[in-house]
Amino acid sequence: MRPSEILELSGDSRRVAFQHLLAEIEAYTSRVTETSVVPPLDVKAIRTVLSNYDFTKPVTPAEAIDVVTKQLWKYQVHTPHPMYFGLFNPRPATMGIVADTLVAAFNPQLAAWSHSPFAVEVEQYLIHEFGKLFGYDAAVADGTFTNGGAEANHTALLTALNWKFPEFSQRGVRGCSRQPRLYGTSQSHHSIAKAARLCGLGNISVMEIALDSFHRMNVNILRSQIRQDRENGFEPFFINATGGSTNAGIVDPIARIADVAQQEQLWLHVDAAWGGGAMLVPELRETLEGVEQADSITFDAHKWLSAPMAGGMFLTRHPHILSETFRITTDYMPKEGAELEKIDPYQHSMQWSRRFIGLKVFMSLLVAGWDGYASVIRHQTAMGNLLRQELVKYDWEIVNDTPLPTICFVDSSRTDGKTASFIDGIAQRVIASGKAWISSTRLGNDLPVLRACITNYLTEEKHIFDLVELLNTVRVKI
Ligand SMILES: Cc1ncc(COP(=O)(O)O)c(C=O)c1O
Repeated sequence: MRPSEILELSGDSRRVAFQHLLAEIEAYTSRVTETSVVPPLDVKAIRTVLSNYDFTKPVTPAEAIDVVTKQLWKYQVHTPHPMYFGLFNPRPATMGIVADTLVAAFNPQLAAWSHSPFAVEVEQYLIHEFGKLFGYDAAVADGTFTNGGAEANHTALLTALNWKFPEFSQRGVRGCSRQPRLYGTSQSHHSIAKAARLCGLGNISVMEIALDSFHRMNVNILRSQIRQDRENGFEPFFINATGGSTNAGIVDPIARIADVAQQEQLWLHVDAAWGGGAMLVPELRETLEGVEQADSITFDAHKWLSAPMAGGMFLTRHPHILSETFRITTDYMPKEGAELEKIDPYQHSMQWSRRFIGLKVFMSLLVAGWDGYASVIRHQTAMGNLLRQELVKYDWEIVNDTPLPTICFVDSSRTDGKTASFIDGIAQRVIASGKAWISSTRLGNDLPVLRACITNYLTEEKHIFDLVELLNTVRVKI
């Protein structure tokens, strides 16, 4: 076999492989609704399957595809299933799958603009459009695609450090006059705390602000904590407001927090990784009131925009801050087009080699349009409202307050209905049934709750009724 055929395969084998791949993707897309939502968690069985392959006896491309699809069917939580009421993981939009396939085939390298000018321009165009959607002035809207919300949050902390401490790039944390301090709540996504460590700030820099009775950041406590920290020798620099918490879809009072940030000269970041989807629906936009005042925003297309994983965005209204944070000079990067007015992503973000992340958003938007997306998000929100209604009908009590479709609930019909053993027991039994996936979590001051989120655009009324029936069935078995 010629070297080229080893990896590229012959023309005939390629055609067979691609056709087989398409058939498998179509089978999964159209038939995943028929399977159990939840896999068996059998480590031994999976390792036994893998031990059959020591890479000394090559298999055909079709066999390779079969090996993988068979095991993926069997061993994954089927997040594309309409009974998956989970952690913001969507059923991927078909055009997102098409886009990721094209990206793999064309393999554009987005580190330097001149290597992939179309791809880089697509991403920057989208970043501007999404910046405007969140209320930024088109003249200043900037940002970058990321590998997800965690990278976008990390980018936010780094840019804020460079903004507040001009010597940060040069001298690192030693360039900070005093110990920097940032603010969030117990409901902030934990990637913020992780980013604080990654930035070399340590856990000591993270201050959790207490919640109000709606599980949102208590703005009065935030204000007094900032003053107290200054008196105690800290340098406050960053507030993370959550625009749709992971636990409960709760939105911090962004506009009031923005006032504090402005008065105290702190960087305001809004983590709207999932909840940012509300900006696409006119009647939901007020949920994130004040978001346009944020210095930066995290938004994940692989959550409410149903992009395949992963497609995060970091958006900012400081057009120079990414370059100030990430600019670096090298001899080996391409020099073509140096005289053009353009952005080289490797100078403008944390990544170097860069996949064309934005294409799945671009192609899905081309086909669905803003209006198409708005009706999908509206539908999911309506399914969330229906779930609330049905739960209340059967004496489940809703304990979170959000217009977004994340529902936290307990059982108010029995005395142990708010205990950890009951709540966790319900989630375990639902999952064990294989018919649906929900989770349990802790809200506010450690209140055990069940959590169901409408993450799937295929979830219809029937699925809501089925979930409530399942919950009602398992509750009497505990
Ligand atoms: C509010 C919020 N921020 C950030 C993240 C992290 O995003 P990712 O998993 O894309 O890194 C999540 C993940 O669910 C999230 O819910």
